[in-house]
Amino acid sequence: MIAVYSSFIKNKLFIDGDWCSSADEKTFAVMNPATGELIAQVADATPADATRAINAAARAQITWAEKTASERSRLLRCWFDLVMQNQESLAQLLTLEQGKPLAEARGEIAYGASYIEWFAEEAKRIYGDVIPPLANNQRILVTKQPVGVVATITPWNFPNAMLARKLAPALAAGCTVIAKPAAETPLSALALAQLALEAGIPAGVINIVPSSQAQAIGEVFTSNILVRKLSFTGSTAVGKKLIAQCAADVKRITLELGGNAPFIVFEDADLDAAVTGAIASKFRNAGQTCVCANRFYIHQSIYDAFCQKLTAAMQTLKLGNGFTDEVTIGPLISLRAKEKVQSFVDDAVQRGARIAYQAAIQTPFQTSAAESFAQGNFFPPALLVDVPQDARLVCEEIFGPVAGLIRFATEEQVIQLANASEYGLAAYVYTRDANRIKRLSEQLQTGMLGINTGLLSNAAAPFGGIKQSGWGREGSRYGLDDYLNIKYLCEAFS
Ligand code: SIN
Repeated sequence: MIAVYSSFIKNKLFIDGDWCSSADEKTFAVMNPATGELIAQVADATPADATRAINAAARAQITWAEKTASERSRLLRCWFDLVMQNQESLAQLLTLEQGKPLAEARGEIAYGASYIEWFAEEAKRIYGDVIPPLANNQRILVTKQPVGVVATITPWNFPNAMLARKLAPALAAGCTVIAKPAAETPLSALALAQLALEAGIPAGVINIVPSSQAQAIGEVFTSNILVRKLSFTGSTAVGKKLIAQCAADVKRITLELGGNAPFIVFEDADLDAAVTGAIASKFRNAGQTCVCANRFYIHQSIYDAFCQKLTAAMQTLKLGNGFTDEVTIGPLISLRAKEKVQSFVDDAVQRGARIAYQAAIQTPFQTSAAESFAQGNFFPPALLVDVPQDARLVCEEIFGPVAGLIRFATEEQVIQLANASEYGLAAYVYTRDANRIKRLSEQLQTGMLGINTGLLSNAAAPFGGIKQSGWGREGSRYGLDDYLNIKYLCEAFS
């Protein structure tokens, strides 16, 4: 591989079209999770910097909203083209700071860009409405207006796509944005800003404030009256705090929170397809995905066969540095993340589960301090069987490459088990019975349902959850609604 990412390493704040240091000149370290090596020291935004960024976004919002829909659309399209022209550099940068295999990182860049492309097109279709009035001398018109300045907080698991998925609809709608990327992975966000600048997106429309002070920046975002909306992707616990903080100003809020996706395989399923879907859903990004299959419910009559086939498929997974050819599972983001996953496995085993398969730790790095750090972050994919329903693996989001299998006997029972969760983001079912698909589509409590597929995310579809998995939708035409206010005009004629 030829390293081509270096021109994309930006380590300053991006405010009002300028690259700048933080108010107190402090920086924080961004490390490679595969090796423990320092990638960059990045300017550490303070609350004062966040306020400055909000003011810049508020100034820019007036002229950005005045642009025609096709002007905004053209700029978004140009940004999309630049992202795709630089896909390889952006992917390498992503692997460097996040750890995912390079092939997956390339996929994430294309996935993130697809939101920019989608909303470049959708920008031209923000239609209003004309409603038949109750009196002949009236006309009822409905128009849509941008909500204004939007603050976003995005996670480290998809540092490019999660930000693109928020920036693109916001800009299409005529909003401007202040973004705080995760402190683990700010470089992908800054690289997106650099390309937005090159695309001609005006100063102040996108502002990026990386910071190690997540709580303090969140407080600025939620308490500043100029910010009209917050869009957050992250944990349910933090989401609840942000809801409370936004209540003071009745700020609009979109939340894409945790998940606990059931993956249900019925006796009539195509088992090979189910295993392929299970691998894609469970092991994408080493299991660090909100929509990952989190608990596997397998019909008792095919349980052993599924387990055997899944084990065989898992034996082909290759753990290692995401830059190494053929690696399919990278490191977890941190040692703390790894310890959490291990504690879930230990808990399940204590409650009676059995480890049916776990890859050996096959790290090629054995020679330096950085390499022994790397062993610390790698978690070998594991398959657990006979996992009890009260295990943490089943009740909480794992965020790691561990699959736990549970047997079920009847459709009614599995629906009840699948719905016994406070989360409702994604679910997956494998069956060939059309009547059953209809029943499950109606009865499973989830925002998204994969039917005979383990992958369901794409720009044309509404991504989002119910219950404690969040509010609002991202992607699709529904994703624009979250950035628009409806205005009703009543015209009277004499
Ligand atoms: C997430 O993990 O939050 C998003 C994953 C996706 O977009 O598929």
